[in-house]
Amino acid sequence: MLSKKVENALNEQINAEFFSAYLYLSMSAYLNDISLTGFANWMRAQYEEEKFHAMKMYDYVLERGGKVKLEAIAAPKHDWNDIIDVFEDVLKHEQHVTRLINDLMSLSIDEKDHATVNFLQWFVDEQVEEEATVSDILAQLKLVEGKGSGLFMLDREAAQRKFSEPAE
Ligand code: FEO
Repeated sequence: MLSKKVENALNEQINAEFFSAYLYLSMSAYLNDISLTGFANWMRAQYEEEKFHAMKMYDYVLERGGKVKLEAIAAPKHDWNDIIDVFEDVLKHEQHVTRLINDLMSLSIDEKDHATVNFLQWFVDEQVEEEATVSDILAQLKLVEGKGSGLFMLDREAAQRKFSEPAE
């Protein structure tokens, strides 16, 4: 059985993951708009990944006999200055999500909820990977100053990304 505190915090995190999905979908639309269709594809895969995070948590709450409470999802931004601005926002957002996951982990430890601690470890590892991937892309975009043939090549590479659910 989940404590009320942990149940509420998991529900807040479900909302945060859906907001992440929404934010990345909005970025995908913007990237399409500025003709970076490869990065638009990359961001749409990121949207799929965030929905997967939300649903992984949703399933866990149900599995533990908790109550899922879906709340309104805040409107994301719609416009950015350029591709570097987009990825700077992605990195900031992922760092924010890492703090949320860490707080959730600390709460689960305080509540002596070992099952949730164990469950959240997957998210802790995932955040390390997400921050590293986004930092790399941002560094590459800065190397090519977000333009020209360098950007064209990075966009072609980003077009290759496909999201597939990780094996459990
Ligand atoms: Fe669900 Fe990008 O962290």
